[in-house]
Amino acid sequence: MSFNTFGHLLRVTTFGESHGPAIGCVVDGCPPGIPLTEADIQPYLDKRRPGQSRFTTQRQEPDTVRILSGVFADEASGAQVTTGTPIALLIDNVDQRSKDYSAIRDSYRPGHAGYAYDVKYGLHDYRGGGRASARETAMRVAAGAIARKIVPGLNVRGALIQMGEHEIDRAAWDWAEVDNNPFFCPDAKAAALYADYLDGVRKSGSSVGAIIEVVAEGVPAGLGAPVYAKLDGDLAGAIMGINAVKGVEIGAGFGAATLSGEDNADEMRMGNDGKARFLSNNAGGVLGGISTGQPVVVRFAVKPTSSILTPRKTVDRYGRETDVVTKGRHDPCVGIRAVPIGEAMVACVIADHYLRQRGQVGASPRWPFSPPT
Ligand SMILES: Cc1cc2nc3c(=O)[nH]c(=O)nc-3n(C[C@H](O)[C@H](O)[C@H](O)COP(=O)(O)O)c2cc1C
Repeated sequence: MSFNTFGHLLRVTTFGESHGPAIGCVVDGCPPGIPLTEADIQPYLDKRRPGQSRFTTQRQEPDTVRILSGVFADEASGAQVTTGTPIALLIDNVDQRSKDYSAIRDSYRPGHAGYAYDVKYGLHDYRGGGRASARETAMRVAAGAIARKIVPGLNVRGALIQMGEHEIDRAAWDWAEVDNNPFFCPDAKAAALYADYLDGVRKSGSSVGAIIEVVAEGVPAGLGAPVYAKLDGDLAGAIMGINAVKGVEIGAGFGAATLSGEDNADEMRMGNDGKARFLSNNAGGVLGGISTGQPVVVRFAVKPTSSILTPRKTVDRYGRETDVVTKGRHDPCVGIRAVPIGEAMVACVIADHYLRQRGQVGASPRWPFSPPT
């Protein structure tokens, strides 16, 4: 099961399974001299951590991260900084319950990865899905915390903007509200509705999907490259690589198809500071695969959790038809915990492109140019 690495100059490799002793990652390519301690990483892991409300899985994992390498604390200054060598991070798994999964050892959960893994590899780890488990995404979140520190002034924030059929009211969007409810929802009224709605879904043993929006501010203009290293292409790939994601949009996304050319084009003016200003952001901060300096806006759809209590028709490893019911602990809406994961993947892609930009172009040309005389 190879291909566990992503990124070019900032390369992240994750390892570990849902029910193994630990999960971890190696972040290679982080520049030296960046202040970094566990305290810089832990808050992001705490956002993704399971068991924090009745709306997420009751698996109790403290997700305490340890930095094993790649940092150095100078006794003189007392400050711990990155050395530029690989940063290895480790999180112990402490709350595995393999017996929860014995009923689905041989029968595939429709919507989960077991069948595809068996067809390809001849084996699948039925205990929480092994490598297909979203437990792996904790390490993406940890890597994302490092990525955020690489790009000066970068601010990446995510929010859940739709649960099932219930969209937020975008006019009521308040970033401060995101940390006030268990859904990372920016609309207080919608969050109150989600609480009742998801209680119903959870009690009935079912599950529901969600849409998440991630906005990256402070992205320097010029990240990304034509053709095969487009920033939006790499963002879409990274987000699609998150478990249960079935769709990604940049800026106006699928909605752009319904706009006229006049409405879709982001008109431009010059600001008082001598920099170009866009009058709208349908492009989502990316033109020609290259960042414009506008906020980068990524939206993604997460499918309903496949672990549900209602019996579903399936087949087993031996080609026999049967029914399957998933017991054990599950998120009724995995889209909630996907918020910090989406933020992390966006941060990693932007940091990778930031280093690539520095490598190829160095200091960007000074725009606007002087007109020819
Ligand atoms: C935060 C998070 C938690 C998840 N927890 C579960 C879960 O408890 N049960 C489940 O069936 N799927 C869960 N998933 C989704 C599966 O990992 C995913 O559907 C499965 O690996 C198949 O891959 P695919 O949906 O990307 O095709 C979770 C996904 C995320 C993002």
